[in-house]
Amino acid sequence: MRTRVATLGGSLLRPEVENRHAWLEALCTVVEEVVSSGFRLALVVGGGAPAREGIELAKPMIGNDVDALDRIGIAATRLNATIVAEALRFAGNNVSTSIPINIEEAAEHAQNHSIVVMGGTTPGHTTDAVAIRLAKRLGAERCIIATNVGHVFSSDPRSNPDAVKFEHMTHDQLLEVVGPAEHRNAGGSGVIDPIGADVARNAGLNLAVVDGRDMERLRAALKGESFEGTNIEG
Ligand code: UTP
Repeated sequence: MRTRVATLGGSLLRPEVENRHAWLEALCTVVEEVVSSGFRLALVVGGGAPAREGIELAKPMIGNDVDALDRIGIAATRLNATIVAEALRFAGNNVSTSIPINIEEAAEHAQNHSIVVMGGTTPGHTTDAVAIRLAKRLGAERCIIATNVGHVFSSDPRSNPDAVKFEHMTHDQLLEVVGPAEHRNAGGSGVIDPIGADVARNAGLNLAVVDGRDMERLRAALKGESFEGTNIEG
C-alpha cells in the first residue's frame, strides 16, 4: 500500500500555532483527504513546549545526563502523539489508539490501521530521526518534515540576513547545513535532526521540509502535489 510518513514538529501543537483548535481540526480534514485518496499515513509528533519545559525543570537536578533528559522529551512527544491520535479517532478515522513505542510496533499497527501516530522511541535522537526510519521501514517514497519554518536555509535567517533559502538541495548539502550526525543535547535541534539527515542520506530517502503552520502547504506535501518548501533529493 502507498504510504505517507510525516513528522509534525511539536511546536505546531504546543504552543506556536495561532488558533490551535482550528489547526487540529484542519489537520483532521487533511488526514481524511489523504487516507481517502488511498494512502496509509504515519504521523510522528514532536515534543514542543512540554518537552522543553520538562527538560528545563529537571536539568538543575539531573545535570547533563542527556539520556535522562531525552526520556523526559520522549514522554512529551508521546503526550502530543496521544492528543493527535485521539483527535483523529474522534473525527472517525481508523487510527491505532495505543502509541507505538518503536518502529517495529508502528509497522505492525500500520498493517491494521489506515493511520498510525507515534512519538519518540529511545534517547539519542529526535522525532525527525524516528519518522525517517519509519518512512524507510514502511517503504514510503519520502519523509515529510512539517515544522515551523518555511524552508531549509544555509544558516539561521533570524541571525543572518544573508542566509540563502533552498527550494531543492542534496542530502550532502543538507548535512553541511545541519552538521555532524551527533545528538548534542536534549530538547533542542535545528531545522532537521542531523542524525535523521544522515539516516536519510544513507537510505537514499527523499525529504520534504514544509511549514506545517500553513495547512495548505502541508496538505499539498502529504498528497504528493508540488508544495512550497524544500525538497531534499539525491
Ligand atoms: P522532538 O522530536 O520534539 O525534538 O523531541 P526537538 O527537535 O528537540 O523539538 P522540535 O522539533 O523543535 O519541537 C523532543 C526531545 O525529546 C528527546 C530529545 O531530547 C528531543 O530533543 N527525544 C525525542 C529522544 O530522545 N528520542 C526520540 O525518539 C524523540
